[in-house]
Amino acid sequence: MIILGIDTSFDDTAAAIVKDTTILSNVLSTDLATHQDYGGVVPRLAREGHEKHINSVIELALKRAHITWEEIEAIAVTRGPGLSICLEIGIAKAKDLAIKYSKPLIAVNHLEGHLLSFLLEPKTIHKQHELSDFFPALGIIISGGNTQFVYAPKIGTYEIVGETRDDAMGECFDKVGRMLGLGYPAGKVVEVLAKTGIPGKVIFPVPMRQIKSADMSFSGLKTAAMRIIEKYPTLSKQDISDIALGFQVAVTQHLLEKLDFAIQNREVKSIVVGGGVICNMFVRKQLRKFAKKQSVPIYFPYTKKLCTDNGAMIALVAQYKESISQENLDRLPIFRLDQK
Ligand code: KG4
Repeated sequence: MIILGIDTSFDDTAAAIVKDTTILSNVLSTDLATHQDYGGVVPRLAREGHEKHINSVIELALKRAHITWEEIEAIAVTRGPGLSICLEIGIAKAKDLAIKYSKPLIAVNHLEGHLLSFLLEPKTIHKQHELSDFFPALGIIISGGNTQFVYAPKIGTYEIVGETRDDAMGECFDKVGRMLGLGYPAGKVVEVLAKTGIPGKVIFPVPMRQIKSADMSFSGLKTAAMRIIEKYPTLSKQDISDIALGFQVAVTQHLLEKLDFAIQNREVKSIVVGGGVICNMFVRKQLRKFAKKQSVPIYFPYTKKLCTDNGAMIALVAQYKESISQENLDRLPIFRLDQK
């Protein structure tokens, strides 16, 4: 099916056209500079950004895909989780378009988008894959707003087997980066600086080692970062790199130790990973090693653009969902991944 996917869950205004699992276009607009001035996303400004950009982003998605409204078979929109004042903009637009062009409307869970984004393919690639090659799968979602381990026997059936009790992993990268004066979002800069850090110079404690479960906690790493930074009268570039490396090692170790609990006693055919933090090559390498040790194949989104928020993953999920009536859409709560 040819589906238009819309996502306005956070700061990015995203629209994409996807045919089955093939991306025909994937357009994104974000007022990053505005948010950078405030050191994080300001919900009111994010909403204004969506209002400003939504029409042009959708038009560009159609234009780049060389697709007309007649060819669109359904419209998919993120129903949550996310900032409600931002979600509203995408949902209202999707409803208007569904009515105007008489298209079915499909409500999608943003986290299901991240989870299944590994299935998306650029136009130039066409791999023939069977879903039964991947499922049952263990999903890892590591983004700016969410961190979860999800057992997925098949598409549409999800059990959260572990999740963060406080901050998300990406949020932790951003907050520690902010303490180091690295701007927003800081994940990528932390990764770059960590490459020149001296191994073992700064050691962060790995959280929740005494708790034998797959739940995670990232807020202690922020406090640890604060204590470590306080000890330096001034921070040289090398100090920042050493701290960035120490942090990256500990946060990844925490993820791996909890993943070990999440996968225990589960028969899975694959580990699938989604969310912005998987842009990080150190995290990716450690996950690959973990999967190799478990003798389980691991899959990541095809490009970095598909790791962070995008409309293509929303259109993809919709390929596997029933459309819903517009009256019902109003009654749906903001989604958690294990809710239908
Ligand atoms: O998936 P995403 O767009 O967020 C949500 O849907 O919530 O991912 C954004 C997050 C930010 O926290 C950003 O700092 C983090 O992904 N991120 C990274 C890297 N690139 C992006 N974190 C660590 N290393 C990176 N290279």
